[in-house]
Amino acid sequence: MSDILTIAMPKGRIFEEAAELLREAGYQLPQEFDDSRKLIIDVEEENFRFILAKPMDVPTYVEHGVADLGIAGKDVMLEEERDVYELLDLKISACYLAVAGLPNTKLNEIAPRIATKYPNVAAAYFREQGSQVEIIKLNGSIEIAPIIGLTDRIVDIVSTGKTLVENGLVEYEKIVDITSRLIVNPVSYRMKDKRISDLVDRVNGVIRAVQK
Ligand code: PRP
Repeated sequence: MSDILTIAMPKGRIFEEAAELLREAGYQLPQEFDDSRKLIIDVEEENFRFILAKPMDVPTYVEHGVADLGIAGKDVMLEEERDVYELLDLKISACYLAVAGLPNTKLNEIAPRIATKYPNVAAAYFREQGSQVEIIKLNGSIEIAPIIGLTDRIVDIVSTGKTLVENGLVEYEKIVDITSRLIVNPVSYRMKDKRISDLVDRVNGVIRAVQK
């Protein structure tokens, strides 16, 4: 009997694409997986245990070893800087992080303010640009901030660009391209290497086939 693999899956927009990728790799995931509000789902046929987590928390579970593997956006990896290995670029949920704001506005020269869910990434970006900014951390609906005068700019995910357009905002600079990554706890990687490399090979096969 092989080891159980515990996998932290991000709830929300990445979930569907990640589940599809695992199914294409030949893993049998029950319907309950997509529809349930359970936070822990055991898939005995595959010897998997899934933890359904908030995307930003996936690297935390993996770092602490309560999940062997996880699926996390590169945005989350850059923000959280957890002690985990990145095994694969899954090439799903492509988007990018960008600086945006109201059109035709300049950054306030004396005390520019930036709203974001990604305070570490935003601070590093503006530091590299040589700008001293005040970061205001929000937990969602970041686009509101410049509209109501909380900040000059936002740093946020752009996927289709629809949220920016519908809220009358424009993109100023792209910071970095984002896709989802398969991450692993370093100890699990040593202890369960056979199961993990088998999963990596299967998932990698699907990614390569899609890219051809
Ligand atoms: C994300 C992101 C943007 C939006 C971008 O928000 O923070 O608001 O999606 O997508 P688009 O370019 O396709 O419009 P999400 O839906 O995850 O919600 P939240 O950040 O407000 O929690």
